[in-house]
Amino acid sequence: MRRWSVAGVCTPCRRSYSLPTVTRPSRKYSIQAQTKTATPGQPDVLLAHDQTLKDGLGPAPPARPDPYKLLAPQLEHLRGTLLNLLGSSHPSLTEIAKYYFLHPSKQLRPLLVLLWSQATNGLGGGWHMKKWAAECEGAGGRTEDLDRPLTRPDVLNDWNPNMPEHTASFHNSFSLQTPRTPLQPPLPPPLPSHETPTLTASLLPTQIRLAQIVEMIHVASLLHDDVIDVSSLRRGAPSAPAAFGNKLTILAGDFLLGRTSAALSRLGENEVVELIASVIANLVEGEILQLKSVHAEELGLVRTPSVGSENWAIYLQKTYLKTASLMAKGSRAAVVLGGCREGEVWKEVAYAYGRNLGIAFQLVDDVLDYEAGESTLGKPGGADLKLGLATGPALFAWEEHPEMGPLIKRKFEQEGDVELARDLVRRSSGVERTRDLARAHAEKAREVLAVLPDSDAKGALEVLTERVVKRTW
Ligand code: FPP
Ligand code: MG
Repeated sequence: MRRWSVAGVCTPCRRSYSLPTVTRPSRKYSIQAQTKTATPGQPDVLLAHDQTLKDGLGPAPPARPDPYKLLAPQLEHLRGTLLNLLGSSHPSLTEIAKYYFLHPSKQLRPLLVLLWSQATNGLGGGWHMKKWAAECEGAGGRTEDLDRPLTRPDVLNDWNPNMPEHTASFHNSFSLQTPRTPLQPPLPPPLPSHETPTLTASLLPTQIRLAQIVEMIHVASLLHDDVIDVSSLRRGAPSAPAAFGNKLTILAGDFLLGRTSAALSRLGENEVVELIASVIANLVEGEILQLKSVHAEELGLVRTPSVGSENWAIYLQKTYLKTASLMAKGSRAAVVLGGCREGEVWKEVAYAYGRNLGIAFQLVDDVLDYEAGESTLGKPGGADLKLGLATGPALFAWEEHPEMGPLIKRKFEQEGDVELARDLVRRSSGVERTRDLARAHAEKAREVLAVLPDSDAKGALEVLTERVVKRTW
């Protein structure tokens, strides 16, 4: 029987860290964050957990913040202002680009960005400069600068009915424009000497914009994914390809990536641009890996012959690339924007947490595909098998029922294969073991949080590691 352990991800560079002295607020959580009302549409796992404690299983630790409650106003704000980034000169393009944002999503990726910002802002050596840049006009990080239209009026060359006075007409050839006088950024402040790093719960405008960027990338990937998977439903509503067709859906995904790139460069942090650009590449690599496992021949892709153990390696690698990379690198990017530097542990903790949480999240997603139906997932259950995909439950079931092997090899394409595979999974411990594997990753994510000073955000990140494995949505 396969035994899983999650490697010591906290020290990916095999370096020993000397943790700075940090002013730690005592472990108390704000009243607002403790309000115990379940977020609409999401079961409150936290309530269930607290009930167990009340039922006499030991003294109750301080109630931990509900992650969604803690950041509800910020999530609401960023969802509203995100739509401003998506206007285009073509109303139908704007409509498709906004389509998936109009249906409520879990907003897990923006939530992670905001929580990591709050959990680490003030701790990094570069915090003072970042805070100064955020507040200082003309320094490149201020809110006004981030909110300037993403397409500059002097280089805007498409006709836009919303900005007629800035629109270059195509009736004539384009004339030379008067160059803009560049803003002279003020001199940065002197560096504070010997100050103890102190956690501050504030968020920088760049971090809020990053939260929007990660959601836009996620939505762009879903638009493309729904074309590839020929999905007719998403979140219980017609998918974008079902509503607008494949071509417009692909183009809308590309448009979102274009807007994302412009917004990303405005953050003024090359390291973050690199991180997020690599996520986009990872998403494509993950999708190719998945396609290859099913359609290598038709697509003319070279398929590496795989045996049992390779199937696992490929499955987990695909899971990281498709799902966990955005969570890991998005979290890390938030910490970079807060001024945490190379050699400090904070970026590594954020990455390790996001990577483990993301893998746990996807493993549970794969379990839900066996357990749930349309009412819970907003799409029919068994979708993975119908796409020819052998995920965790099927791979574990194969270890107990060798008959699963031929079904996996022929991608469940013969009449009755899907039903037989579901039955084999049901008669195995595949679902349970996939959940155990998810639990091991979630536990590792929780463990790496130990190096953070106590805060509401840290408590909320802990709660997420429990929710992610207990979720039914
Ligand atoms: C959903 O997976 C899909 C993803 C997590 C990533 C898809 C990535 C691409 C299509 C590559 C292109 C990327 C960009 C950024 C344009 P799923 O099918 O398992 O989940 P679902 O059930 O929600 O569809
Ligand atoms: Mg899909």
